[in-house]
Amino acid sequence: MRSIIDTLDLTTQELDELIAAAEDIIAHPKQYRDKCNGKKLATLFYEPSTRTRLSFEAAMYELGGQVLSVPGADLSSAAKGESVADTAKTVSCYADIVAIRHFSEGAALVAARNASVPVINAGDGGHCHPTQTLADLLTIHREKGRFDHLTVGLCGDLKYGRTVHSLINALSRYQGVKFILISPEELKLPEYVKTEVIEKHGLAFEETVSLEEALPCLDILYMTRIQRERFDDIETYNRLKDSYILTAEKMRSASADCKVMHPLPRVNEISVKVDEDPRACYFKQVENGKYMRMALILKLLFENGEKTAQENYFHNAVCKNPRCVSSTEQELEPLFKRSADGSTVRCAYCEQIAESES
Ligand code: NCD
Repeated sequence: MRSIIDTLDLTTQELDELIAAAEDIIAHPKQYRDKCNGKKLATLFYEPSTRTRLSFEAAMYELGGQVLSVPGADLSSAAKGESVADTAKTVSCYADIVAIRHFSEGAALVAARNASVPVINAGDGGHCHPTQTLADLLTIHREKGRFDHLTVGLCGDLKYGRTVHSLINALSRYQGVKFILISPEELKLPEYVKTEVIEKHGLAFEETVSLEEALPCLDILYMTRIQRERFDDIETYNRLKDSYILTAEKMRSASADCKVMHPLPRVNEISVKVDEDPRACYFKQVENGKYMRMALILKLLFENGEKTAQENYFHNAVCKNPRCVSSTEQELEPLFKRSADGSTVRCAYCEQIAESES
């Protein structure tokens, strides 16, 4: 039994296999329509969602399986104060596989450690969103034919945008990828992603506030929404919300094969006029997401995969991140891990730098 908390839980070979499996599903959908007969997927969504939830559910139905879900977190026992751990134990009694979206960073890891069936992270706060990355990777593969040597511009809310964190985790393992990080000062990519993902893999990145300057040199422009729900004060959100608006006019300075991606929903960061541009790929991402989720569900249900490798966790440090599940859940065992070079200690749930216990 194996769970997927981030894209790093899958090797690059496994990503290639998932892409090949999704392509086969696209080519021969009828051959897959009974594969999950008798199997049930539970969707536990504690945050709003249209695409992710519906694509998980559509994926399971198209595989011949069934879906269990609560209409919303406010109608589940979470509203009565049930912990993520207890919910995960409970749902394991009913379902064969679980997809969870939660507002706390690290909640999917808590669910995976307590469930007795595979758990898929469908987004944990501002932390990670691996199945959006699977949709993104299939899209990049179909549109560009490769992952190596791409210049990828990520634009918008790089601080709280979990899709950005997971996509960088995935792309950092390919050769010669260069990241152009386009964001306002307040919404820059978290340090741990820069140092322990991009730099650790010896890849280059540049930070800029200017979309216009970055646009001409990009192979991919990945736009993101400013994540209003993660801001503590609405004034800061209001000041930053229109930082970047991609228009048809701006697209004139992009290269002829620069692909524009966005995990959606968009608010106003891409003008609807750009939708007519053949370089716009965001609705293709939506469709690709369903096929990759079908491939992932099949892998987790039917491959005798090993349990996700157990890290060497320790307990005597303190996580001060108020958005971490270790702050929002009671009586949760604190878990910490050391960076590869031993220099930093991070919370295993949210990956923020931890403080030593005094
Ligand atoms: C993203 C998410 O939930 O993080 N949406 C999605 O799953 N397709 C992006 C966002 O909400 O901005």
